Amino acid sequence: MRRFSAEYLEFTREGMWADGREALADCSLPDRERVLDVGCGTGEFTRVLAEETGPDATVIGIDADTSLLDVAREETSALASYAAGDATRLPLREDAVDLAACQALLVNLPEPARAVRELARVSADLVAAVEPNNADVTVSSTVDREADLEREAREAYLAGVETDVALGDRVESLFVDAGLVDVRTRRYLHEKRTAPPYAEPALESAARKASGAGLDDHREELRNALSAAAYDDLRRRWREMGRDVVAAMREREYERVELVPFEVTVGRVP
Ligand SMILES: C[S@@+](CC[C@H](N)C(=O)[O-])C[C@H]1O[C@@H](n2cnc3c(N)ncnc32)[C@H](O)[C@@H]1O
Repeated sequence: MRRFSAEYLEFTREGMWADGREALADCSLPDRERVLDVGCGTGEFTRVLAEETGPDATVIGIDADTSLLDVAREETSALASYAAGDATRLPLREDAVDLAACQALLVNLPEPARAVRELARVSADLVAAVEPNNADVTVSSTVDREADLEREAREAYLAGVETDVALGDRVESLFVDAGLVDVRTRRYLHEKRTAPPYAEPALESAARKASGAGLDDHREELRNALSAAAYDDLRRRWREMGRDVVAAMREREYERVELVPFEVTVGRVP
C-alpha cells in the first residue's frame, strides 16, 4: 500500500474545497443521513462532507493507515468518527450508508475496480469518487526552471508509478462496470497559490525542495523510470532549484501557482 505522511496530505489539500463546492452538487450532501469517506487519510475530505451534511447526519472515515486516523481524530473529533479498514474489504454491511465516497483513493490502488464495487455494495443510494488527473497538472513559477523540472519529475513519476494516477474520466467506466446508474462527472480545479506573506507549510515545502526530501518521497516510483545516474542528476538540479526558491522567498519575490484538476464522479445504486 502506498503510504502518505500527515504533513504531505495536509499541505497538498490546503485550500481544497475552500473556494467553492459546486462540483459536489450531485452528492446531494444536505440530504444525506449516513456518509462514508474511504481512504480518508487525515480527514481532509471527511471534514468537507461533515460540513455540508445536516446536523443529524453520521459521517465515518475509514483508512488502512491508523497513524493518519489518529491525526484525523484530533482535527475532526466533533464532526465525524473514524475506523481502520481496507477499501477492498470494507467492514460494513450492505446498504449501511446512503453515500459512499472517496477522494484521491482510486488512483492509489492497484485494483480500483474492487474498491468501486465495495463502495457500491455498502451504499443504499449514492457513490462518489473525487480523483485527480495527475497528467494534467500545471505549474507556473517565478523561479524559471521550477515549472520545467516539475514537469520532468511528474513525467518520470507517471512512467514509474504502478497504479493509474491519471484515472481522470475513466472513473465513469469503473462506475458503470460496477452496475451504478445515472453516472455523471463534474470538474473541480484545485488552485494552490504561494505568494508572500508565506505560511509555514509553504516555507517547509521550499525547504524540502532544497534538501531533496520532497523528491525522495517519490524515489521508488522515479527510480522505476530513471537510472540511478539520471535520478541523481534530477535530484541535483531539483535541489538547486529548491535553493533558488528559498532565496527568492527570503526576498519575498517568490510566487507559484499549481492547478490540479479533480474529476468528481457520482453514480446511483439501482
Ligand atoms: C492520497 S491519500 C488521500 C487521503 C484523503 N482522502 C485526502 O484526499 O486527503 C490516499 C489514502 O488512501 C489510503 N489507502 C490506500 N490504500 C488503501 C486501502 N487499500 N484501504 C484503505 N485505505 C487505503 C492511504 O492510507 C491514504 O490515506
